[in-house]
Amino acid sequence: MSAEPHRRLQELRDLLHFHNHRYYVLDDPQISDAEYDRLLRELIVLESQHPELVTPDSPSQRVGGAPLEAFAPAAHTVPMLSLDNALSEEEFLAFDERTRRNLGAADDIDYMCEPKLDGLAVELVYERGVLVQGSTRGDGYVGEDVTLNIKTIKSIPLKLLHLHPQLLQVRGEVILGHREFEQLNRQRENQGEPLFANPRNAAAGSLRQLDPAVTATRPLNMFCYGVGGNQGLAFKSQAELLSLLGQMGLRVNPYIRTVRGARAVLAYHQEMAGRRESLPYDIDGIVVKVNEVALQEQLGAKTKSPRWAIAFKFPARQEVTQILDITVQVGRTGALTPVAVMAPVSVGGVLVSRATLHNQDEIDRKDIRIGDWVVIQRAGDVIPEVVTVVASRRSGVEKPFVLPEQCPVCGSHTVRPEGEAARRCINLACPAQIKERIYHFAGKRAMDIDGLGEKLVDQLVEKGLVKDVADLYFLTLEQLAALERMADKSAQNILEAIEASRRRSLDRLLFALGIRFVGEHVARVLIDAFHSLEELGNASRDALMQVHEIGPQVAESVSDFFTNEENRRIIARLRQGGVEMQPAQQRSSDQLQGLSFVFTGALTAFTREEAERLVVSLGGRATSSVSAKTSYVVAGEAAGSKLDKARQLGVHILTEEEFKEMVGL
Ligand code: IVH
Repeated sequence: MSAEPHRRLQELRDLLHFHNHRYYVLDDPQISDAEYDRLLRELIVLESQHPELVTPDSPSQRVGGAPLEAFAPAAHTVPMLSLDNALSEEEFLAFDERTRRNLGAADDIDYMCEPKLDGLAVELVYERGVLVQGSTRGDGYVGEDVTLNIKTIKSIPLKLLHLHPQLLQVRGEVILGHREFEQLNRQRENQGEPLFANPRNAAAGSLRQLDPAVTATRPLNMFCYGVGGNQGLAFKSQAELLSLLGQMGLRVNPYIRTVRGARAVLAYHQEMAGRRESLPYDIDGIVVKVNEVALQEQLGAKTKSPRWAIAFKFPARQEVTQILDITVQVGRTGALTPVAVMAPVSVGGVLVSRATLHNQDEIDRKDIRIGDWVVIQRAGDVIPEVVTVVASRRSGVEKPFVLPEQCPVCGSHTVRPEGEAARRCINLACPAQIKERIYHFAGKRAMDIDGLGEKLVDQLVEKGLVKDVADLYFLTLEQLAALERMADKSAQNILEAIEASRRRSLDRLLFALGIRFVGEHVARVLIDAFHSLEELGNASRDALMQVHEIGPQVAESVSDFFTNEENRRIIARLRQGGVEMQPAQQRSSDQLQGLSFVFTGALTAFTREEAERLVVSLGGRATSSVSAKTSYVVAGEAAGSKLDKARQLGVHILTEEEFKEMVGL
């Protein structure tokens, strides 16, 4: 055997360990992913030519091996204790007092404060710097040997970077981040597999996989917070230990902090409680540890937990309660949302009595029934949701729930568009949706009714003056002037704005109706193809799908819309109210046929909408975001990121003058 491959292999292992640490532990890579892959491939090829040179700490050993029949037991030479809990400030202050009394200390003591990570505890055994075993906590004395699975976790070094003590048993928490958890559950949902209730269960399930190849696909992570057996690593405090662990290439939580005295711990607790919502992983409290090792030894341990540390928990965010009823809410877009009405319970300090059940699929998947006891949770400020049913508490009288086919607000028939989870009420006049529809109808890019803001719309709807968009065209000066805080002059201005809107083009009117999937561009395409609302309303789904750019989703939505009696009535009343429904003007030419434009920055000769309409009237397309397919970006005053993007993509850039020249102005 020549010395060459031996040396190169050592070099590659060191390089890969180094870059792995930069990427997974420090979040600060120094080389590209492609370069990393090239090094790893070189290592694997070289190892396959020299199998006798493969070492247990080689980066090639992360990918697992054959599935196991069962996990072997792994004894912890130093027991993995658990922690006592403090559930309130008083309980924590009692711990501090007890601790100082036991130490005979009159003064404040130094504490290490750490986030209490909500995952599962594991032990990593390093012999002379090389990872030889990974195990779960088990009962604290004997856990399960999950070495092959542990090795697939990229933030766990297979070899320590700097110090190589004779023996070091490192302890920490294996966790799964929120994003990773949601992605895993989405994937499981697609494959019809049962979902994990929370990230901790998902982390535990992933680590306790008999097939390490499966674990390797789960993006687990680990933060280290302590040691068990130790021969060769000297430290005087928890702070020093954590710093050493970091230097050795192990991942240590960035929010750890040494503080003096109980008051400072309370402040840290409060700070972390605030941070809890925005962290990308779950924490359920903080862990407070007496910092000095000498003091820890003086305090000692009880059977199950040390006297020098305590878990100072946050209020729980999961609770169990009973579903008393399920009601249906109609959202502003017409979506029917089932909502559980529950016996009120405090979740994380907030009284909760309602939780969204999302849609029928969700109810079926979780088999949620009226009368069920359920686990609910609140994540951040969002409305709470039902995690799972406590099936063991069923008595047999629970009632299954099915969403009604009729809208509970207006009684009209609802539809469930293909491929969508939500059932919708598509009746334009449904009061639940009416305000939102009117805001949209009056909007700048739709009928552009100046002065018809949200407050006015709210008043008009609440006073019963406007029940659908057509009613706007029958409003009188007296009615408007009688509204709160409405001067005669303003009422007059609004009537004038409504008058002006009667002459908007047909494609704007179609867009203003707020049909699902019919945005500005689709509205133009449809009016180009069918010329009038009448013709469009009579078109079959097939006829609609003949039109270039119109797919089954739009076709279904448009056809459903015009089949609804109430919608037809509203269109007839819009006509009666004087809204012009003449076919769109023929294009002045096809000068810009096939070209697409993005306008950015402030233009001087026109508003952005006017410029866009000009492009469309000349046969071109106006879009809002720049891509490689954009033909021209027209840059006005103070153009920003869109202009940068155009430069990056090499899209032609025009000044406003050049654009005017191009269109012959
Ligand atoms: S120290 C003797 N530090 O909490 C010291 N534990 O309730 C024992 N945990 O089993 C552990 N974050 O799974 C410690 N920063 C942290 C922790 C932490 C989470 C978990 C760990 C332990 C449980 C005890």
